[in-house]
Amino acid sequence: MANTFPLFLRSLCLFPLFFLANCSSPLAPALYVFGDSLVDSGNNNFLNTTVKANYKPYGIDFAAGPTGRFTNGNTFADFLAQYLGLPFVPPYLGLSKAEKSKTITGMNYASGSAGILQESGKTYGTNLPLKEQIEFFQKTVDHYLPKNFETNDELSQYLSKSIFGVEIGNNDYFANYLQPAYYNSSYLYNPMQFSGLLLKELKQHLQDLYNLGARKFVVFNIMALGCTPAELYIKNLTSGCAEDVNQIVSLYNEGLPDMLQELNASLQCSTFVLGDIYGFIYDLSQNPYKYGFTDRGPCCVIDYSTYLCQEDVTPCVNRTSNIFWDTGHRSQQTNLLLATDCFSGTTQCTPLNILQLMQK
Ligand SMILES: *[C@@H]1O[C@H](CO)[C@@H](O)[C@H](O)[C@H]1NC(C)=O
Ligand SMILES: *[C@@H]1O[C@H](CO)[C@@H](O)[C@H](O)[C@H]1NC(C)=O
Ligand SMILES: *[C@@H]1O[C@H](CO)[C@@H](O)[C@H](O)[C@H]1NC(C)=O
Ligand SMILES: *[C@@H]1O[C@H](CO)[C@@H](O)[C@H](O)[C@H]1NC(C)=O
Ligand SMILES: *[C@@H]1O[C@H](CO)[C@@H](O)[C@H](O)[C@H]1NC(C)=O
Repeated sequence: MANTFPLFLRSLCLFPLFFLANCSSPLAPALYVFGDSLVDSGNNNFLNTTVKANYKPYGIDFAAGPTGRFTNGNTFADFLAQYLGLPFVPPYLGLSKAEKSKTITGMNYASGSAGILQESGKTYGTNLPLKEQIEFFQKTVDHYLPKNFETNDELSQYLSKSIFGVEIGNNDYFANYLQPAYYNSSYLYNPMQFSGLLLKELKQHLQDLYNLGARKFVVFNIMALGCTPAELYIKNLTSGCAEDVNQIVSLYNEGLPDMLQELNASLQCSTFVLGDIYGFIYDLSQNPYKYGFTDRGPCCVIDYSTYLCQEDVTPCVNRTSNIFWDTGHRSQQTNLLLATDCFSGTTQCTPLNILQLMQK
């Protein structure tokens, strides 16, 4: 394990990589993904839950077909991996121990129906709440990754240059707070208190990731849930958005930037980028034509007992016309627009896009 190559020579070899910034180099060696079904790449295939997307027509525009991705093609995480020049990020639960030991370009711990809180989404079966996702990442850092590095210092450098994407919180509302028949959270907390609880919990988990070596974070807020086909169906709306729902999740979104800035300021050499998926989905819903969309409804035919696509039923023909693929998951086209702007644009990811984040 010990690296006998003199430290000062190694520093000289690495020097050209470090001239752009103090904290690390401009390259991203890996993408680690945490979150819910919006970025799950197949973890739920291995869990006992009805929230799965490993059947047709999911993946109809994905080369490998249905994989457990909750969309017709690429997720946001897939596009981001492509932009970073990395392979698609494999689901942690789908990898053998041998594969886990060799995977150094990132892993995906995201799980459909999962939230920040342990209980969110559990009426549908098991999932990986954020805490368990981070425990799996801890195992990755402690057990699997060290096999690929000569020294702890090299592992730390690698982690500090890697991108950590976190898209979570949607199910703490959709599959918890907004379902009083199944969850008691809305009796225990008013909307302001609940958002505070979520933000406090998320802050702790982001700190846990930092303590494990993460430095470059992209953290998404909660989408405009009131504009999803699922909420329009629940509220029996044919136009507009369920603004009461949007107001509730907005409390969380209003608190998130301050919380990320606090972390950015208190955790040395960390950089936190905020992904505004709320604003993006809201704008798409109000101005679909501006983005080339013609349809605010789902593209696949919905089974309203699960809000997912009906198995083996042919979806809409022109799949680039729909903002949403099913009742809550973005279409590949929406994921592409989001990833493109977040990677190199100025609107969805602030105060830095991911290209700028890599140079920090
Ligand atoms: C899966 O979950 C269902 C419903 O909760 C339960 O009845 C069943 O026993 C579980 N199956 C396994 C293999 O754990
Ligand atoms: C609320 O529900 C959770 C799990 O669903 C349970 O652990 C908790 O005891 C409940 N709290 C109250 C006050 O009923
Ligand atoms: C839904 O709205 C339509 C009119 O837009 C109305 O005819 C129908 O009764 C409503 N259904 C429910 C369950 O509220
Ligand atoms: C994050 O912290 C760095 C210093 O470590 C600072 O340059 C940057 O402006 C901060 N960004 C935000 C959004 O606070
Ligand atoms: C599909 O939708 C796109 C974007 O709205 C449009 O440009 C294209 O003409 C449509 N194609 C077909 C075959 O309808």
